[in-house]
Amino acid sequence: MDPQILIFNTPREAAVACGVRSLGILKQARRDRGKASMAVSGGGTPRMMFEDMAQRGFDWQGIDIFQVDERCVPPDHAQSNFRMLREALLDRAEIDESRVHRIKGELAPAESALEYSDDIRRYFGLGVGALPVFDLVQRGMGPDAHTASLFPGEPQIADRAGIAAAVENKGLEKSIQKRVTLLRGVLEQARNTLCLATGAEKAEALRLVLRTGFNPMKLPAQIVSANMVWFVDQAAAAQL
Ligand code: 6PG
Repeated sequence: MDPQILIFNTPREAAVACGVRSLGILKQARRDRGKASMAVSGGGTPRMMFEDMAQRGFDWQGIDIFQVDERCVPPDHAQSNFRMLREALLDRAEIDESRVHRIKGELAPAESALEYSDDIRRYFGLGVGALPVFDLVQRGMGPDAHTASLFPGEPQIADRAGIAAAVENKGLEKSIQKRVTLLRGVLEQARNTLCLATGAEKAEALRLVLRTGFNPMKLPAQIVSANMVWFVDQAAAAQL
């Protein structure tokens, strides 16, 4: 299950290609199953991709959008992943609110994780202990090789049975510490995963993730699913 790696000249080209591939996956999934599910990441990198996806005249009917992770802040906060998603994609593409499954960053983290897990169980019609299979999970990677809000050394990386949990960002000072994230088992079950990572500050992490032994506790971005593709630019790929 080795991921495929696609290298583009610029961050924009990588972002646009990742967005176009995403829409193709969603269209095919809806054709196959009548509806489709996508979980999206936050941070800064996906903004350009979302803006491009929003202006492609895509028919969003039957597509449900979930979050891979959220910072524990209110939805209008500058650091809110939901805010970025709303501004860059949801508002522009006029996506029906009832199809958007938000992680409530304004709640206590543990409560938010429980509520989000219940929302996911309802949508997928899951029994106790079952994991959802998203048609598409869009992931990013931090310079410390974290993905979703699974940071290096996070004990819950060992949890492959849970859906979502509250975690702490122990690494990057710039970001909000408390997070809610999908867990490893859910990332692994995805039908498709597209990872978008650009910029020179990701180059060392990308090398470690793709070119060294499997150790997701240290390098969470190594967590892999079926049909996983990396969309990276030249700068991020410089050490491969
Ligand atoms: C978040 C994300 C996170 C992100 C990486 C990369 O909330 O930060 O969902 O997992 O994908 O941190 O973030 P950048 O795109 O800002 O580098």
